[in-house]
Amino acid sequence: MTADSLSPEKLLTPVLSSFWDEPEPWTLATYRQNDGYAGLRKALAMDPDDVIAYVKEAGLRGRGGAGFPTGMKWQFIPQGDGKPHYLVVNADESEPGTCKDIPLLFANPHSLIEGIVIACHAIRSSHAFIYLRGEVVPVLRRLHEAVREAYGAGLLGKDALGPGKDLELTVHAGAGAYICGEETALLDSLEGRRGQPRLRPPFPAVAGLYACPTVVNNVESIASVPALMNKGKEWFRSMGSEKSPGFTLYSLSGHVARPGQYEAPLGITLRQLLDMSGGMRPGHQLKFWTPGGSSTPMLTGDHLDVPLDYEGVGEAGSMLGTKALQCFDETTCVVRAVTRWTEFYAHESCGKCTPCREGTYWLVQLLRDIEAGKATASDLEKIEDIADNINGKSFCALGDGAAAPIFSSMKYFREEYEQHLEGRGCPFDPRKSTAWA
Ligand code: NAI
Ligand code: SF4
Repeated sequence: MTADSLSPEKLLTPVLSSFWDEPEPWTLATYRQNDGYAGLRKALAMDPDDVIAYVKEAGLRGRGGAGFPTGMKWQFIPQGDGKPHYLVVNADESEPGTCKDIPLLFANPHSLIEGIVIACHAIRSSHAFIYLRGEVVPVLRRLHEAVREAYGAGLLGKDALGPGKDLELTVHAGAGAYICGEETALLDSLEGRRGQPRLRPPFPAVAGLYACPTVVNNVESIASVPALMNKGKEWFRSMGSEKSPGFTLYSLSGHVARPGQYEAPLGITLRQLLDMSGGMRPGHQLKFWTPGGSSTPMLTGDHLDVPLDYEGVGEAGSMLGTKALQCFDETTCVVRAVTRWTEFYAHESCGKCTPCREGTYWLVQLLRDIEAGKATASDLEKIEDIADNINGKSFCALGDGAAAPIFSSMKYFREEYEQHLEGRGCPFDPRKSTAWA
């Protein structure tokens, strides 16, 4: 069934979130009452290569932002090479607006642990790591508790993958640097070094943690595997579109009536999501939104019917990214929003390459001047020139992400930038306007 044929109220497909409102959903007991570890039993009865083929055929794509096919990533791990293989789960969620992995870990950590065991069976790994954003201490504690439960129940540790096949799981707390969500910076950080991106290729699948073949997957990607294995690839493919099948977590935030996590098929639209979640806050209209956090080019109210899958959002000139739908209404100053995001990128730039390190700094200076009404028309050209020198010319995706809101806001709201110029300042300034209701 495709999203088009469903009415708004039937759009939700709770899988990972299906028992979040039960008492203590994070415990092993509750997880087991809700089919927990049934997918693992099926997977362990299969040959590892068949598990990889199954996940490939199901069409699961990485939920961390890039949408890379999960089964294909697992297949890249060379077999019979004599080296250890590692699975590293990227739980360093930090993209502005992105808030799906943290609630998922908080409410349902065993779905991730079960997915880890299945993935380690598939890639023949005996040691997995979860790299968690360390600032979220309650989630860290909950994860440690769930891992302890899994060890106690024999789901991890000795013979976890079958007789003579042990599996260790290490939870590592990062120190809160956005760049450590970039997979190779994460690996450097995990190895005890300063987290800065490595040159790719080689990709982690060839030379990752401790220079060994490593799969780096997002939390939601791995947590989606148990249900896929348990209910089957046909069930998984019955949701979403041909190239972007399955269910996913959409994070709705900003000026909406009911922000939160909405689990629904890939390929639904923002209009459908807003319809089922109470829409924008009363009396206000959508002005602009991001499909997947601030690193994905913003879209406008003209894009409400864009299918939220990798192809649909791509055709609209943006990227699906992390499915973090930040919605801004007509009271928002686009220059102010872009300035705040750019300040974030300048602060989080790791400093390794010049275009990003210097460019994000100068973008912030110019944007602050515009916001304060101190800039001229030539400053707008400078901003575009600097963004152009960051985009595609930086060492990692953070640079492109920093340029994305500049280009897209200029594309759709250039007039609003011009309104700020030459002593005019922000038209949305509450001291000048009644727009901030
Ligand atoms: P990418 O497209 O370069 O790579 C995606 C994955 O596929 C990686 O794991 C990579 O190792 C693997 N891969 C790609 N080509 C390969 C090959 N030829 N051989 C083996 N493996 C290969 O994307 P990248 O730079 O890893 O991630 C960018 C995305 O991250 C963006 O789309 C953004 O939405 C997302 N993001 C998410 C954040 C979050 O908080 N969840 C934060 C910032 C960005
Ligand atoms: Fe570091 Fe930015 Fe260069 Fe990435 S683009 S390596 S974050 S300086």
